Amino acid sequence: MRVGVLTGGGDCPGLNAVIRAVTKSLIHHGRCEVLGILDGFEGLMGEAPRAVPLDWERVSGILHVGGTMLGTSNSANPLRDAATLAQVARNVQALALDVVVAIGGDGTMSLAHGVAEATGLQCVGVPKTIDNDIAHCERSFGFDTAVATATEALRRIESTANSHHRVMIVETMGRHAGWLALEAGLAGAADVILLPEIDHDVQAVAAHCRAREARQRYSIICIGEGAKARGAGETVREQVAGSPDPVRLGGVGHVLRLQLQPLLNSEVRTTVLGHVQRGGEPTPFDRVLATRFGHHAAELVLARRFGEMVTLSGARISSVAMACVANVQRTVPPDHELVTMARDIGVCLGNAP
Ligand code: F6P
Repeated sequence: MRVGVLTGGGDCPGLNAVIRAVTKSLIHHGRCEVLGILDGFEGLMGEAPRAVPLDWERVSGILHVGGTMLGTSNSANPLRDAATLAQVARNVQALALDVVVAIGGDGTMSLAHGVAEATGLQCVGVPKTIDNDIAHCERSFGFDTAVATATEALRRIESTANSHHRVMIVETMGRHAGWLALEAGLAGAADVILLPEIDHDVQAVAAHCRAREARQRYSIICIGEGAKARGAGETVREQVAGSPDPVRLGGVGHVLRLQLQPLLNSEVRTTVLGHVQRGGEPTPFDRVLATRFGHHAAELVLARRFGEMVTLSGARISSVAMACVANVQRTVPPDHELVTMARDIGVCLGNAP
């Protein structure tokens, strides 16, 4: 079997670990040739395909390396029009691919599913995102690393907030899901955690910080980039024309600073963590999870269980139809145990109790 591997969407710690595991598992099996497609679906959209053979040596020594050795793109859209789809089909034929392992988020799953329907190219999916927002997958690799990075940032911010008696806002990634803000906020002992799923009341946040001004004299606010003040929309950083997912969020931490400053005595500052959360080496947990995902994707390929995406449920690796995952997002239920617990231990969630 000739198997293509591609990474699509934003990068994420652990992608190389998946590429390594899927390649080694397929080669170990003995009847597969593996090709790495460059820059996600973009590598199949040009006049000629862009791909490199993946062998044992080529994927050795990359387990711990951040980013993706294959490159990625979060603006390539193979479903853009009929001509692009026809070109993708020709390139798949030129590479003589039997199946593509698509490693990506809900957007990549949706593109892979669409390409499969339109061209007949078989696909197997592997979920990746630091946002942990892929439907039917309790934990995607990359999330643990991003939580660790954001947590460390929160702890560092705390010492300077404490010294200057400031209110420090730390904005995390996460798009429309607050998993990253929630777990990093809890692990980093934030005083206020604001999630996209729970619209916040600026007055309630200010009241919490004022109460702390009288005691600890500093506060840490962890806010997910998709969070919204009650009655307001999301803060959009930019629209990327032609991208399958054109809206890029960012900047809500600055908006909140301007809203809070007139209501507080302390100085308010904002730090946007940005791509620091996506880069760098995966944690040991993510290295192992990514390896399990890659290994299971190879098993799905060998069993010809096409159209399925690897999932994690509890401690168990399993799979689900890609169609169920495409363009669906797994958000934080407002009554999630971690949300309730946060409230019970005195964290302000931005709304009146
Ligand atoms: O989906 C992962 C993610 O990191 C989001 O949390 C964030 O909104 C987005 O990617 C940013 O992507 P980029 O800056 O690469 O356009």
